[in-house]
Amino acid sequence: MSDYNQDKLTADVVAAFAKTPDPRLREIMSALVKHLHAFAREVDLTPEEWLAGIRFMTATGQISTEKRPEFILLSDTLGLSMMIVSLAQARASGARGATEATEATVEGPFYWPGAPDLPLGTDIGEGVPGEPTLYLGRVTDCDGKPLAGALLDVWSGDGDGKYDVQLSDAPTMKARGRFRTDAEGRYWFWSIRPTYYPVPDDGPVGAMMRITNRNIYRPGHIHMQVSAPGHVMLTTHIFVGGSPYIDEDAVFGKRDSLVVDFDKHPPGKAVDGREMKAPYHSASFDFRLAPAALKAAA
Ligand code: BEZ
Ligand code: FE
Repeated sequence: MSDYNQDKLTADVVAAFAKTPDPRLREIMSALVKHLHAFAREVDLTPEEWLAGIRFMTATGQISTEKRPEFILLSDTLGLSMMIVSLAQARASGARGATEATEATVEGPFYWPGAPDLPLGTDIGEGVPGEPTLYLGRVTDCDGKPLAGALLDVWSGDGDGKYDVQLSDAPTMKARGRFRTDAEGRYWFWSIRPTYYPVPDDGPVGAMMRITNRNIYRPGHIHMQVSAPGHVMLTTHIFVGGSPYIDEDAVFGKRDSLVVDFDKHPPGKAVDGREMKAPYHSASFDFRLAPAALKAAA
């Protein structure tokens, strides 16, 4: 009689990784094998179903390019990206940072390094479809102390739900800029109020979303990376309060603490002194950065 059984198979595969020199890689591979085998057993996976899974992953790889990272989209839509973001924030900032710092969320595929450094108050929404919006607030530490010279690297889609990189094969930067807070930690700039948009749905992940009846839209949001020396860099969004899909973000990135009311104003002088001929919005949000972990003495 064969000594084969499913538990022994799992144990044999885990044992095959036992000589992995890097202990962290050994831990990851062992856990991966155990969870994969447990998954197959839980759903009693058939050969045909596993082949369909392999075909799906092959298609995901085949469509992927630098500009079209389909595996990242898969990770996003399975909620794995947000799980990793949440683990990273807790790990990097410790208990206090995890509870008192501004919540982090997904970076997404549309960050474009090298946005221009601009003076406070610049309008990065000029020529971009969408309703004008004044973004303003402060960057502080977890005690509320203002952080002067903190960097905000900002990007968003437009009022039609499109990012600059989606508009042409040779795009120019739009609705992007880098701002530094003033001596009181304040920032302000103009852009447009972004709207909801679908995640790219013309590939295998889109097919997965359709056959599972999943929502493919993200609520309106503007992305920020906020950094200051001695503090943990924060990648987050401000979400547009009341946006369609605000409670069913396709990538599970929405956090209640990041949802902001975009107040509507009639034409006139805005708080930064800009004379507005048309109605506009303002969105006020303060960022709190966690202290960087102290390095252990060498
Ligand atoms: C974004 O917000 O830019 C985004 C995030 C995840 C998937 C697709 C888009
Ligand atoms: Fe986005």
